[in-house]
Amino acid sequence: MGRVSGRSCIVTGAAQGIGRAIGEALLDEGADVCFADINAAKVAEVVRDTQAGRNGRAIACGVDVTDRTQVSEMIAKTVAAFGKLDVKFNNAGVNKPMNFLDVTEENWRMIMDINGLGVMIGMQEAAKQMIAQGTGGKIINTASIASRQGYDNVAPYCASKWAVVSLTQSGARDLAKHDITVTGFAPGVVATEMWEDVDRDLMAIGAAERPGQAMEEFAAGILKGRVAKPADITGTTTFLASADSDYMTGQIVMIDGGMTLV
Ligand SMILES: NC(=O)c1ccc[n+]([C@@H]2O[C@H](COP(=O)([O-])OP(=O)(O)OC[C@H]3O[C@@H](n4cnc5c(N)ncnc54)[C@H](O)[C@@H]3O)[C@@H](O)[C@H]2O)c1
Repeated sequence: MGRVSGRSCIVTGAAQGIGRAIGEALLDEGADVCFADINAAKVAEVVRDTQAGRNGRAIACGVDVTDRTQVSEMIAKTVAAFGKLDVKFNNAGVNKPMNFLDVTEENWRMIMDINGLGVMIGMQEAAKQMIAQGTGGKIINTASIASRQGYDNVAPYCASKWAVVSLTQSGARDLAKHDITVTGFAPGVVATEMWEDVDRDLMAIGAAERPGQAMEEFAAGILKGRVAKPADITGTTTFLASADSDYMTGQIVMIDGGMTLV
């Protein structure tokens, strides 16, 4: 028996990186998983790769997490496939570094929309389904070290990730009466495609001179002495999706190798 056997889960931002790893780890421990992403073609490929030998326990769904209708259709599709919704990961997120004085309204709105509003809508629509089922459930949000400290070249990203913390607390308070827990986890620096983009952007705005520099500088301050791989994150995410974490709610678990001791 896996830790999440028989649980019906949705993971957003699951076409690559941390989201994909979360979904695959859940499958490995017996869950049914909807891999959801705005990149519908790529997430369909992910499911084609993972589905072999797993008896249709994975489905793919194209979704823009900022669009309530699409989010509610994704939940309906998951319930049609697996009969219910037990666990919802609000993991999709974006970053687009800009020097603090250059941050534009467009940059702010794009990041806050996906990382903030996307989490709000994801929590609301998942909770409505769980309340209708009367089963309780678990909502798990992806925060960041940028939820604990403001960094200079990514101000809107930090603001959006601090928002994830407060949304996790507000949701936990409101949804406890329905036996729904809301938690989050906060990675530090994880080697994913997001970091490749961030690296390019930092060089473009003059905040880094060569590829990999920013990551190396961050790594120098990590007690574990290295940046994370997505696999470093999934022991905790599966724990948060499992009954082992049933008495936790409103909390953010740091998984940053010891970067921010708060
Ligand atoms: N990589 C890191 O170092 C790091 C650190 C802390 C937190 N995080 C957070 O972890 C999460 C995943 O990051 P990652 O590194 O795997 O990023 P990634 O860029 O590799 O993957 C993010 C995925 O989200 C999808 N996405 C973007 N906008 C979307 C939308 N509107 N609707 C649905 N899907 C959308 C993308 O298509 C992509 O597949 C994000 O919330 C990120 O902020 C990452």
